[in-house]
Parts: sequence; C-alpha cells; structure tokens
Amino acid sequence: AAAVATVTFDVNGARVEATPTPGQCLRTLLREHEHFEVKKGCDTGDCGACTVQVDGTPVHSCIYPAFRANGKHITTAAGLGQPGSLAPVQQRFVDAAGFQCGFCTPGMVVTAAAIEADAALTDPSELPRLLKGNLCRCTGYRSITDAIVDQHTPPEGSCH
Ligand code: FES
Ligand code: FES
Repeated sequence: AAAVATVTFDVNGARVEATPTPGQCLRTLLREHEHFEVKKGCDTGDCGACTVQVDGTPVHSCIYPAFRANGKHITTAAGLGQPGSLAPVQQRFVDAAGFQCGFCTPGMVVTAAAIEADAALTDPSELPRLLKGNLCRCTGYRSITDAIVDQHTPPEGSCH
C-alpha cells in the first residue's frame, strides 16, 4: 500500500517518527515499534486489551487511526512503571491479585491510571461505568476494582 504522511509523537516519553500505511491503526503501529504491551484482542474496539492513553485519555488503539497520533503523547502500560519500579496502581493490581490470565491487564492498568489521575472520578460506584471499555474474560472484576480503590487486603494464604 502507498505510504501516507509521516507522523511524529512520543510514546512513554520517547519520540517516534513513523509513516503509517493507509488505514493503519495506532495499535499496529505501536507493536511495529515493539510496544508488545499493547495487546491485540478483538480488533473492533470492544475489549480494551489495546488501551493506551492519548494525551491522558484512554483510547482503544485498535480503532484509533495511527495518523491521528501526530503530535500526541502516548502512554502504554510500560510507561506507567517497570518491573522493580511499578506505578502505585500496578503494584496494587499485584497486591490485590487484580489479574488472572493477565491478557487484559496492560489495558486495564492504563485505564485505571487515567481514572486515578482524575480526582473527580474516585467514587467507587462509578468504576463499572468507567471500566466498561475494558473486558476481563476471566471476570475477575472484583479484585480489579479492589486494586483501583485500594481496599483489598488479600487474606493470608488464600487462593482466588
Ligand atoms: Fe482494541 Fe479489543 S483489541 S478494543
Ligand atoms: Fe484474563 Fe483479564 S485477567 S482477561
């Protein structure tokens, strides 16, 4: 396919210059740049596995045209924290067992971090609505929302 215009944006603070192919979504472009933490799930904007923040707003990158990222700041799960220096929200997902298979987790924590960054959105009863763009096929929503509201203390030696 013919190339379209070059775009520049930053991913987790690192500048990326790329030439998206016509119709290419941001998710595919990010994975071409080895951002494999951005997962390939449904490809139809339904599951949230591909969620990244674009200028702080969670978006489904599988339905976000790559060319629209021009000039934007992209944050993936790997930009929140790293093994050994996890972001607080990532550490709480670990502590609360907020993942089972983990496939949804990178998108979940990206959305959770955006929710937490907005102080107006801390009412726990709002979480089901705020998380509706992120599906967990394991249905482990209780531990996920616990991780976000930081109320979960895993019972000693328990198994989820
Ligand atoms: Fe993007 Fe499912 S892969 S929403
Ligand atoms: Fe398996 Fe969410 S932990 S899909």
